[in-house]
Amino acid sequence: MEITVTRNAVEEQKTSALLLLFAPPASPEKIAAFNLSQPASYLAKVKALVQRGDFHGKSKELLWLYPENAAAQRLLVAGIGREKEETNIDGPFLQRVIAHAVVSSRRLGVKELCVPLAGAMLEHFDPAPLARLVVEAALLANYQFTPYKTRIDKNCAALQSLTLLLENSKHEIAVKSGARAGKILGTWTCFARDLQNTPPNDLSPARFAELAQAQAANVKLSCEVWDEHKIREQKMGALLGVAQGSAQPPRFVILEKNAAGAKQPTLVLIGKGVTFDSGGLAIKGLEAMLEMKYDMSGAAVVLAALCALAELETPLHVIGLIPLVENMPSGMAQRPGDVVRACNGKTIEVADTDAEGRLILADALAYASRFKPEAVIDIATLTGAMHYVLGDTAAGLFANDGALAERIKKAAQQTGERVWELPLYPEFTQQLESEIADIRNVASKRGAGASKGAAFLASFAEGYKWAHLDIAAMASSMKATVLTPKGGTGWGVRIVVEACRQFEEQK
Ligand code: BES
Ligand code: ZN
Ligand code: ZN
Repeated sequence: MEITVTRNAVEEQKTSALLLLFAPPASPEKIAAFNLSQPASYLAKVKALVQRGDFHGKSKELLWLYPENAAAQRLLVAGIGREKEETNIDGPFLQRVIAHAVVSSRRLGVKELCVPLAGAMLEHFDPAPLARLVVEAALLANYQFTPYKTRIDKNCAALQSLTLLLENSKHEIAVKSGARAGKILGTWTCFARDLQNTPPNDLSPARFAELAQAQAANVKLSCEVWDEHKIREQKMGALLGVAQGSAQPPRFVILEKNAAGAKQPTLVLIGKGVTFDSGGLAIKGLEAMLEMKYDMSGAAVVLAALCALAELETPLHVIGLIPLVENMPSGMAQRPGDVVRACNGKTIEVADTDAEGRLILADALAYASRFKPEAVIDIATLTGAMHYVLGDTAAGLFANDGALAERIKKAAQQTGERVWELPLYPEFTQQLESEIADIRNVASKRGAGASKGAAFLASFAEGYKWAHLDIAAMASSMKATVLTPKGGTGWGVRIVVEACRQFEEQK
């Protein structure tokens, strides 16, 4: 989708569709568009409809108008009022409105949408974040995954162009920079969705690593890919234990931006990259297994976030660690009862082969300490228990440092991707004691599965500030919303980028 910032009077702007936002007016006379500063002739058309009772300005209310002798071929009138509530417009709300407009345009086959940024809209939002929100929402709502369709459904029409319209030059620089940031974040979130949605027969660990290398080269990130031999040299026994059941060999990807960035804090991002999780010998049932191509979502988020940070040209020194395996049952597969040794020398009793994410993350977390990081954030579809704890409303946040947890919560508020902090009580760690090894990968007692998974990771995140995001219930969605279609959601790219950028501001 092409994104342009243009200066023009709204009524002179030639476009296929012009988006006008309205809150419910106290009376038809008081009608005013949220994103217009001049009482334009377009207003009269809406006023007539309000008078007839055909339009109220409620949120989600959309109306297409076809003005005669006007520069715009169509007006898309969108309500932003909320029933029984003061109009309370925040970033996530505005993004939903924009996304509704984009979806409605796509249904009509409209290829071009123009959004004036003016009037009250600029009182509610600073111009740069406003432009970022609008562009990001349009890209997310315009997403579709079609490489495997040989016939493209005509309902799948996509917007080809989005124009942000300004009345004058006052905010032009800020809007252009916000639009650029929105384009970067929206595009990389969609890239993460593409990886998530790719079927597991086409996205092995080796293929993921190849794609990471290609993308890293595009944005000038350094990228190192370890094969099985190198992983063995590094003594990553926990990762190798998971990988050994599969015909697909593992990979370990190390991305780095601003390696030479002197006096910048070093941040490490780690993403769970299980390209398919059958459960191993503790094999899952069909229904649960069907969701398991998304078990590399953390890895997709880390790759996308690093590429986005590179394009945003942040001065931060950021490292991405992506352990990649396929978890399969076979004559070579690891058994419940096996003991493996992570690269920091700790031994792990594999009590359940389906708790494989924490095994590969154990090696990555142990490896992260050599970078002497200011903070480490891992992101993983770690436990099915998250479906019970928070459902698809928020990701689980765990941290060994209060200030880091606060930074992530602040980032969440800015991106609209919700997190909720859950405890790391000592009882969870105690229940991971093993008779035979230093730790077991699942607890002896049932319950609090997400916390125990996090407690296992915490015991490998030693010597640095660490936070863990369990995105098991956020990574994919069974039902479409205007911002996230069915399938991979790309959840986490924006919050991880924003959390990193907070360290920049600290400087
Ligand atoms: N990949 C799964 C977690 C998961 C489940 C993600 C559902 C998304 C949707 C993970 O590897 C797993 O199987 N976890 C087990 C842990 C258990 C064996 C302690 C689980 O959640 O059942
Ligand atoms: Zn599993
Ligand atoms: Zn898994």
